[in-house]
Amino acid sequence: MSKLEVQDQQLLATQDQDHLWHAMSRHVEGGNPTIAESGEGAWFTDVDGNRYLDGVSGLWCLNLGHGRKEIVDAAAQQMMKLSYFPLTLSHIPAIQLSAKISDLLGDTYKTFFSNSGSEANETAFKIARQYHIQNGNPGKYKIISRYRAYHGSTLGALSATAQANRRIKYDPGVPGFLHVPPPYSYRCPFGEEVTDCDKVAADMIDQVINWEGAESVAAVIMEPFISGGGVIVPSDQYLQRVAEICKKHDVLLIIDEVVSGFGRTGKMFGFMHSDGVQPDIVTMAKGLTSGYLPLGATAVKAHIFEKFKEKGNDKHLRHVSTYGGHPASCAVALKNIEIIEKENIVGRVADLDESILGRLRDLIQHPHVGEVRHKGFLYGIELVKDKQSKEPASDEMMAKVIGLCKEKGLIIGRNGDTVPGFNNVLIVAPPLSSTEADLNFLVETVVNTFEQLN
Ligand SMILES: Cc1ncc(COP(=O)(O)O)c(C=O)c1O
Repeated sequence: MSKLEVQDQQLLATQDQDHLWHAMSRHVEGGNPTIAESGEGAWFTDVDGNRYLDGVSGLWCLNLGHGRKEIVDAAAQQMMKLSYFPLTLSHIPAIQLSAKISDLLGDTYKTFFSNSGSEANETAFKIARQYHIQNGNPGKYKIISRYRAYHGSTLGALSATAQANRRIKYDPGVPGFLHVPPPYSYRCPFGEEVTDCDKVAADMIDQVINWEGAESVAAVIMEPFISGGGVIVPSDQYLQRVAEICKKHDVLLIIDEVVSGFGRTGKMFGFMHSDGVQPDIVTMAKGLTSGYLPLGATAVKAHIFEKFKEKGNDKHLRHVSTYGGHPASCAVALKNIEIIEKENIVGRVADLDESILGRLRDLIQHPHVGEVRHKGFLYGIELVKDKQSKEPASDEMMAKVIGLCKEKGLIIGRNGDTVPGFNNVLIVAPPLSSTEADLNFLVETVVNTFEQLN
């Protein structure tokens, strides 16, 4: 890739400083941000001509990597044919995509499209509350989520997000959101002596529903594996237990597949690791289009939609999104899913995790690694000062690992600014289409970096 002229680079850096507001970032006067210019597969090149392997798939979304011509063509062709159309009426790619999603989820679902994961979750909360009213239980409005979980940046989704650092100066949140402890065996919230932390964490949801009164609880929302909050991976039985509890109390189970959907964990959807679980509502974004265009989706089981069919002026979902389900985004999603199936991306993730990426688990030998948690191409490496005390590693140590990897051409992430004092989990989540050479480079770079860390 061409390296930009020095004066162009300087102009871009100045304009970036003066005009562009970066997400989740402190303003650093005279800072030197990474400005990307182009990408190919799992790699991108910055304006200085440096190449990096993107070990976190952008924001965990670039599942098929950069530069898939078929996806770009699908968007362009759709835009030429029908540039925009609202879903107050209907259009072909949205119909086809909704049918495909239902097929992939393994039951009959009706899908409402939006533009992002946050909006997909907002939509789910509104549907859950309205459903219970129209199902004869108007008192059921509370939504339960878990500490450490992230569900989005808009106020409803942020209210479900139980990460204190993300809420500073934006609270109070929306009323009716409650939080319960996560199934986090490494630092079990119920005490170190607890032997089955996952079971106790699931039973706590039962307990909280009883304490609150089941007649007041509308839904539980959870990711199959907490991703941004530190990659917390319970046993497959945890979700089965939660699903049983929800069913017992007529509480809807909303599964947030924004990160784990479309192959990330080695199954098409993360909930599919737990046999017999069929969520009432599934929310999706990110990997739905591999990040090529924005799209969010809220898929709702048919029996819930039944309640929105009833006659009356206020029985339908009074919710709209101008761009939600944009024809080009839906066409991109259809092509993305077609490639995932054609290239057996899901099976590939499971295989390459086993044969290559899984070597990251050996990092557990390192004195500063407390735990390596993973599911498919989703890795969390929890750093500690020492294994005995489990005291979280310092920000400096976290920054050092990330900085050394970057010097060697690898971008990895962390659960930054989530839970006070516990932002000590490194995150590795490469594109699902990464080549074997990419994955070998990733593992070797991380392992070499840890060798430099003492
Ligand atoms: C689990 C989860 N849910 C929802 C969201 C929100 O998605 P978006 O940024 O597209 O609004 C995210 C974003 O990182 C996420 O990780």
